[in-house]
Amino acid sequence: MSVLSFTSVSVRFGGNTPAVNGVSLEVKPGEIFGIVGESGSGKSTLANAVMGLLPGTAQVAGSIAVNGREVLGLDEPSLRQIRGAEVAMIFQDASASLDPTWSVGDQIAETIRAHGPVRSAEAKARAIALMEEVGIPDAPRRYSDVPHRFSGGMRQRIVIAAAVANNPKLLIADEPTTALDVTLQAQVLALIDRLRRSHGTTVLLITHDLGVVAQVCDRVGVMYGGKLLEVASASDLFARPSHPYTRALLAANPAGAPRGSRLPVIPSEWSVESLPAAEASNG
Ligand SMILES: Nc1ncnc2c1ncn2[C@@H]1O[C@H](COP(=O)(O)OP(=O)(O)O)[C@@H](O)[C@H]1O
Ligand SMILES: [Mg+2]
Repeated sequence: MSVLSFTSVSVRFGGNTPAVNGVSLEVKPGEIFGIVGESGSGKSTLANAVMGLLPGTAQVAGSIAVNGREVLGLDEPSLRQIRGAEVAMIFQDASASLDPTWSVGDQIAETIRAHGPVRSAEAKARAIALMEEVGIPDAPRRYSDVPHRFSGGMRQRIVIAAAVANNPKLLIADEPTTALDVTLQAQVLALIDRLRRSHGTTVLLITHDLGVVAQVCDRVGVMYGGKLLEVASASDLFARPSHPYTRALLAANPAGAPRGSRLPVIPSEWSVESLPAAEASNG
C-alpha cells in the first residue's frame, strides 16, 4: 500500500485555470519523493490539499489517500487526528511555525503530549533527545531558550524535531531549505535524509531547486501549470529527461545537474553529529 496516493486530483480557486490539474501519483513507503516546478506550478496547493489546509474557496476533485484512508472531505476533528500523528508538515519559514514567546523545548514537548498521555518529565526527556537527534548542541541547556536565541538553520532543525516527534509515517516538507544559505540547506537535507532512514518516514519534498532534488530525492515529479508532467527516479530525470519541459528546466539550471560543478554536494564525511563549528556556535 502506498503511504500517499493522489488520484486525478484537481484544485480550483474559482478561475478557469485549475491550480492543480488531474494529478495522479503514488508515493512509496520510505522514499523521498521530490515535487519540483517553478513558482506557481501548484506544488504547495497539492501539498496543502493532503493536510486539509486549503481555503474554503478551493474546489477539490479526485481522491487523496493517506495510508489507504481517503482524506478529502474529512471533517476538522478527523483531520486534526491525522496531522502530526500520521502526517507532519514543515514549511519554508521556520520562525512562522514556532511561538516566539515560548521555549523551543516546551514547544516540542507540547507536540508530544498533544498526541497521547505522556508525563511532563518524560515529554521533556523525549524533547531533549529529539533536539540532540536533529543536531542542536548542548540540548539540555538550550531546551529553555526561546526561538530567537537560535540561528535560522537551528530553528529549522527545531521545527523538524517537532514535526517528527510523534513518528509520523509521512513528512511533507514545502521548500524547507529555501530560506537557508547553501551550506545550511545541505545540512538540513542531510538531516531529513537521516531521519527518514532511522525512522522509516516517507517524505514528500517540495522544491523549486533541482540541486535539492539531486541531493536527496529517490524519485521526482515535475509540475508545470498544475500538471504533473513527468515522474522518474532522480538519476533518470537528470540522465534521461523525457518531457521537453523537463529538458528545458535542466538546461536552464546548470547548478541542478548532478555532476554540475556548482551543485552543493554534501561531503560524505559530514554528518549531523559533526556540524561545522560556524553553525554550531552561532546557534
Ligand atoms: N488561496 C489561493 N487563492 C487563489 N489562488 C491561489 C491560492 N493559492 C494558490 N493559488 C494559485 O494557485 C496556483 C498555484 O500556486 P501554488 O500552489 O502556491 O504554487 P507553487 O507552490 O508551485 O509556487 C497559482 O496560480 C496561485 O496563484
Ligand atoms: Mg509553494
